[in-house]
Amino acid sequence: MNRAFVFQKDGYTRTEGELLLNETLFHNANGYFGVRGNFEEGYPPGQATVRGQYVNGFYNFSEMKQPEKHYGFPEQKQTMVNSFDTQTMVLTVEGERVDLFQGEVLEFSRVLDMKKGITIRRFVWESPKGRQVEVCITRMASFEMLPLFTIEYQVTPLNFSGKAWMESVHSGDVSNYFNPKDSRVAGEKITHLRVAEREMTEDGFSLIRSKTLKSGLEIASVTAHLLSEEYTAKSQVGEKEIVQFFEFPLREKVPVTVTKYTVTCDSIRYLDVKGTAADLMRKSLGRPLDYWYQCQEDYLDKFWENAEIEIIGDEELNLSLHYNLYQLLQSVGKDEYCNIGAKGLSGEGYEGHYFWDTEMYIVPFFSLAWPETAKNLLSYRYQILDRARANARVMGYLKGALYPWRTINGDECSGYYPSGSAQYHINGDISYAAVQYYLITGDWDFMVSKGAEILLETARMWYDLGNFYQGSFQLHDLTGPDEYSCVVNNNYYTNLTAKHNLEWAAKIYRRLKAQGQLEDLERRIGIEEEEILGFEEAAEKMLLLYDEVLDINPQDDSFLSKKEWDFSQEAKGNGPIMQWNHLYRLYRYQVCKQADTVLAHMIFEDAQKVSTMKNSFDYYEKRTTHDSSLSRCIFGIMASKLGEKKKAYEYFDFSSKLDILNSQHNTKDGIHTANMGGTYMGIVYGFLGFRVKETGFYFMPSLPEQWERCRLRLQLLGSRLEITVTGTECMFRLIEGTPVRLFVYGREYEVEKELTVPLEEW
Ligand code: BGC
Repeated sequence: MNRAFVFQKDGYTRTEGELLLNETLFHNANGYFGVRGNFEEGYPPGQATVRGQYVNGFYNFSEMKQPEKHYGFPEQKQTMVNSFDTQTMVLTVEGERVDLFQGEVLEFSRVLDMKKGITIRRFVWESPKGRQVEVCITRMASFEMLPLFTIEYQVTPLNFSGKAWMESVHSGDVSNYFNPKDSRVAGEKITHLRVAEREMTEDGFSLIRSKTLKSGLEIASVTAHLLSEEYTAKSQVGEKEIVQFFEFPLREKVPVTVTKYTVTCDSIRYLDVKGTAADLMRKSLGRPLDYWYQCQEDYLDKFWENAEIEIIGDEELNLSLHYNLYQLLQSVGKDEYCNIGAKGLSGEGYEGHYFWDTEMYIVPFFSLAWPETAKNLLSYRYQILDRARANARVMGYLKGALYPWRTINGDECSGYYPSGSAQYHINGDISYAAVQYYLITGDWDFMVSKGAEILLETARMWYDLGNFYQGSFQLHDLTGPDEYSCVVNNNYYTNLTAKHNLEWAAKIYRRLKAQGQLEDLERRIGIEEEEILGFEEAAEKMLLLYDEVLDINPQDDSFLSKKEWDFSQEAKGNGPIMQWNHLYRLYRYQVCKQADTVLAHMIFEDAQKVSTMKNSFDYYEKRTTHDSSLSRCIFGIMASKLGEKKKAYEYFDFSSKLDILNSQHNTKDGIHTANMGGTYMGIVYGFLGFRVKETGFYFMPSLPEQWERCRLRLQLLGSRLEITVTGTECMFRLIEGTPVRLFVYGREYEVEKELTVPLEEW
């Protein structure tokens, strides 16, 4: 077995921090739902836990308390709902409850097998009375049948025979985690669901149907059990939960398995949630579990065939990379009704909301490795375009669309506008990703049916927002990616993405017109030539700040005139400084939470001189805390670009292990999906120096001296390429499709079969 696919932790630690962390690290998800890696048998009362099962895109509304009511400030937000609990399985052997908080844990390990798509918790436990059992619990969130979750619970008595009693719970009595001291999770306990129906069906399934209290959605879950041993069963149907009991004999050293199946259906995707869940359960039980395991492996074989990055020379890094890519696959929505949360489906941090993280950090990976999924992510944005239009009206724009900063259903969920709704760059990010996706895949159909409308509607908002002043087009009172400088003028990143947005809206409009494909769009949004001329002029005259003395791009028009932050007072890197500084204080200093101008340089490397990028990198690096996990990966990529190899590697190393090592101390709230995508970009955009431009695909490969070789596959315009970089050369091999035209160190080649280019220094 290739060790890079097995993430394993041995040894039992039951500190609160470790338990919560492992709940995240070993969660199971498939893009449709996610289940945290809680112990089936639970913890003792009072032990902190986030016992959660979530469905991507399934939300309830909760009140957003605005202390001062102002027009347009959102008064409710969406929250990803903890929907039910089907994890709970409590085993009792000969009257003793298997409980890792009593007796003795003799062996313990947790495994995530990323080739098989399963997690395994295995332990050998000795009861207070000396009975020993080996328990091995395998969980799977099926990629083949998205509503299906299985828990295969195997117990082997090691030194006794007797009776076992399994209590398996299906509960609708659940609530979300809250912590009044942490702005990144819900601040108070809120009831989101009401159990509308619960029953034991004729098939012996437990069924619970719940309704959200405010958003009008429904969810049904069904569980069923299969046992490898003769048993007697009974069930208890309560107000909000159903408990099933199974009694079966245990013979010394003979394993017995209880397999619990859960099928979940929600009303966003299914008309009859209850009927469909029961049907799909029958379908699941119609095949042996091994069939579903095999489907899981087959699905992952295909995924890894396209997505795997192999690094020879650093086993630890190889593992963390596999871990990150696997988590992206687990987290990403598989239909257009949902997206990918900042924490995926692994926890409740940011309440399951979708941010610009998707477009700028995650779409690149999927566009290059698993393009159908990238298309889903962007189609979701198309699906919520009407909500973005409504949001633009609320924000005072007569035309066009403004995407919400954070959302699930398309409505704004940001309660604090300076670092929320004011981040207008979300429009530029979505447009940028749509164009990159188009350039990478050549998917013109997507552009015609969805992309063009997104581009034109977002461009309209920029045109309305901006102002021609003294010969330039300016964008005022908005916030760039750096959330420690808010409501500023002419943020360099925002202006560049807006310029790109306006240019591409006009370009695609003209192309559609020339090809006679405009009619539909004209009917839908009534776009006119005159508007396009306006977009072109605004793009051309867009103000892009440049400071001649420092030869840098100022982050915005006031940044350079602000006071310097005294980094010696507070240890850099000891948790986000916003936790002990009033935000409003931070706004007055030259201190950045995350990559902003440096990110602009990464995505638009031709917009300024190399010296400007170099000086800007040095300037902002000194002033950036990296308090956001979205930051270091970008600094790493730009360090590669600028030839700072040591730094590039250090940034990359940190971001690739961020969750596995819990480096930001908050992985318990969920994984950091943007950073995971950023790690991928660290290799492809960093070490391979890959860029996608209108003129083609560009590479500037180099290999960190710590590695012997790096190999990966990319899909470009439908063709599949394998790229191998060694210490001396870079090889491109066409695996499938038509020849690919590309540039390496600025020289143009066509890869018909194989191409080898010696590495160059720059
Ligand atoms: C970052 C944002 C990001 C959000 C969700 C914040 O801390 O500043 O850029 O979108 O986290 O990941």
